[in-house]
Amino acid sequence: MTKLANLDDVQTRIDSYLSEKLASLVVNDDRLLAAMRYGLLIGGKRMRPYLAYITGNALNAKQSDIDGVAAALECIHAYSLLHDDLPAMDDDDLRRGQPTCHKAFDEATAILAGDSLQTLAFDIIANHNFSDAVDSKRIVLLRYLVNAAGYQGMCGGQALDLAATDKAISLAELEALHSLKTGALLEAAVMMAAECSDKATSHDKEQLAQYAKLIGLAYQVRDDIIDIISTEEELGKPAGSDLAANKSTYPALLGLPGAQEKAENLYQQALQALATLPYNTQSLSDFATFIVSRKH
Ligand code: IPE
Ligand code: IPE
Ligand code: MG
Ligand code: MG
Ligand code: MG
Repeated sequence: MTKLANLDDVQTRIDSYLSEKLASLVVNDDRLLAAMRYGLLIGGKRMRPYLAYITGNALNAKQSDIDGVAAALECIHAYSLLHDDLPAMDDDDLRRGQPTCHKAFDEATAILAGDSLQTLAFDIIANHNFSDAVDSKRIVLLRYLVNAAGYQGMCGGQALDLAATDKAISLAELEALHSLKTGALLEAAVMMAAECSDKATSHDKEQLAQYAKLIGLAYQVRDDIIDIISTEEELGKPAGSDLAANKSTYPALLGLPGAQEKAENLYQQALQALATLPYNTQSLSDFATFIVSRKH
């Protein structure tokens, strides 16, 4: 499997930003803070931060600006997982090789920790020490984050996912569901990082958005595939849980080979979108390769 260059450095950098941020918060309830820490800092591949850093790097953005973007994205992602695992949603007991937050704490605390991590994302965009050029773009960044996280993005996709459980849906409906529930946040990682650069033209941003949409969709197609082909040990979360819950997934609709072919098509199209960009996009194409070959 492709190894991502500098992934360890990105993980160390974002983890230290997030842990310093949590340490600086005045939270009256120790249990709430402990659950936020549990949801945010125990494990996680940090793919959304990674994507933001490599996009920023390709476009010459300042790393200290990407820190704010990456941290906010990871807070939204962590919150989405706390809520996704709850009994009312996927009812999963294992996440990142550990008991899920509501198992380690309790349901009410996991809900509140999720809520708190969500607002922490907006706190970070509002208060991060951005450079002067990016300081004036806080609202633009917020707009991307809101669109990716809310009813128009991840939450909307989660709602479609729940509505499509135990039900046959069309390929177009499945694509919309997948693009929103996972694609939207990965797309925001690319677009928010691009906003931190003064190099990206509107043509470049269109191509980057195209790349991001394609790999964002591929990420969830692969998530559905590895739910079937990987072990619980590799995943750090239960294997086969989509099948058990009768979820609408690409493998459920197209079969495993069909889903694999879909991921491959998305991958090829993503590379084509990158080919039109006048930058060194090697790390972005490597990321696409990683997505469609990852085992966890
Ligand atoms: C899992 O996300 C759920 C999806 C959105 C597909 P990740 O695969 O990024 O999970 P972590 O953060 O590495 O645990
Ligand atoms: C999760 O999708 C997507 C979000 C949390 C937004 P899944 O339900 O497939 O994620 P896993 O497989 O539990 O990580
Ligand atoms: Mg789910
Ligand atoms: Mg789930
Ligand atoms: Mg899944």
